[in-house]
Amino acid sequence: MRRLLIVGNWKMHLNASQASLLLHRLQENIKIYRDIEVVLAPSMLVLQPLSVQIDRRKFRLAAQNAYFKDEGAFTGEVSFTMLRDLAHYVIVGHSERRHILNEDLPMIRDKVAASFRNGITPILCVGETKQERDDGETKQVLHDQLMTALSNLTAEEVGEMVIAYEPVWAIGTGDIAKPDQAEDAVTYIRNYVKDVFGNKAAKTTRILYGGSVVPDVTFGFLDIPGIDGFLVGGASLNYHSFSEIVLAAHRWQREQEDEA
Ligand code: 13P
Repeated sequence: MRRLLIVGNWKMHLNASQASLLLHRLQENIKIYRDIEVVLAPSMLVLQPLSVQIDRRKFRLAAQNAYFKDEGAFTGEVSFTMLRDLAHYVIVGHSERRHILNEDLPMIRDKVAASFRNGITPILCVGETKQERDDGETKQVLHDQLMTALSNLTAEEVGEMVIAYEPVWAIGTGDIAKPDQAEDAVTYIRNYVKDVFGNKAAKTTRILYGGSVVPDVTFGFLDIPGIDGFLVGGASLNYHSFSEIVLAAHRWQREQEDEA
């Protein structure tokens, strides 16, 4: 059985006490599931306190970003080196960072490399804007984002990483991708990995869908071939909806087992 991965990206929400309360509620609601890996990505500020509070049998922590240099005069930045032992994953290249914070392709490539250098698994986000989709450029955009971000990696590293397909137009809009759009993109990403890094890497790379994921769509989206889980934004800020997503994924896994 393939373990599913569900990541809650809290973005720039929740101060320390709010984050602690949400974690407390999630720990009450979410059981230990061996078929699902649940990851929380709070703000940088609360990673440390949550790491003390967290039940490690249920959750892992991710940072939402980090800087690609390990140490030095980079005011305001936090390095991957500083996140060792604190975060299991780091989200790299989220579209909000690409578009609002102007992160370009080479910077994202350097961040992916820094992540591996420091023993942290990157969750690389890729995805096209509405304009790019309308212009028929989706695959070209995915190609360019993947080619740059993965360019310095070994097949083994690519096989360990997580790639999240997050169409920009679906993020925070309620306009979730249609199943065939998600399937096309995810298939394209896995084929790219297969062509460049080989079969073994393509089999083990985990590919997530993100963009307006809510409990109601979870079950159906897991039927899409090649989707290994979700990167959840808004719905991860509410303990009820996030727990529902995790529970739906667990039910889906059990259904697969019963059918096997
Ligand atoms: P929403 O689930 O709020 O659309 O956000 C998706 C996202 O950007 C997760 O990283």
